[in-house]
Amino acid sequence: MSAAPSRNRPRTRYIRAMAEAFNDKTLAPGFLNQDKAVRYAEVADEIASVLDGETNLTARMATVASMLASSFDHYFWTGFYVVDPTKDRELVVGPYQGTLGCLRIAFGRGVCGAAAETGQTQLVPDVHAFPGHIACDSRSESEIVVPVFDAAGKLLAVFDVDSDKPASFDAVDQQGLEKILKATFG
Ligand code: SME
Repeated sequence: MSAAPSRNRPRTRYIRAMAEAFNDKTLAPGFLNQDKAVRYAEVADEIASVLDGETNLTARMATVASMLASSFDHYFWTGFYVVDPTKDRELVVGPYQGTLGCLRIAFGRGVCGAAAETGQTQLVPDVHAFPGHIACDSRSESEIVVPVFDAAGKLLAVFDVDSDKPASFDAVDQQGLEKILKATFG
């Protein structure tokens, strides 16, 4: 196999070192106990550093899902449902971390569909009380879904995080996620 062009090698090495350091850090005992607001601020900077110069949308979404899922103990399912440009108002599953998710969700259906339909973050302390909630994993108890817009303000996707405990998400999660998603995709 031929080597990468020499101009790319320093960046490739840097990302590999970043990934190794990030994985060592987040896997260390006790890491997941730290203050949520502090961790959102830190991981926002880490995501921006890793994705600097990377334009591929799948790579960007996969990296965001992985880095956030590794950062918080209350994240049980973490990932994107992307607007399918070939369908009328339909989301299709994108990069995620977690157990098998549903593949397609119509706008207006469940929590993800409500976020896509309204363009507003959905903070759901009890998924069983949410009309039309789609249970892909019966252990899911609470969730947050944040709409993701591109620089022109067009809806690209929604970002869905589920927890296996009730009322896991609050305004700190909402602000942290909205900020990261705007900085990464807006
Ligand atoms: N909770 C979502 C469905 C997707 S999954 O849980 C992975 C919803 O009701 O929109």
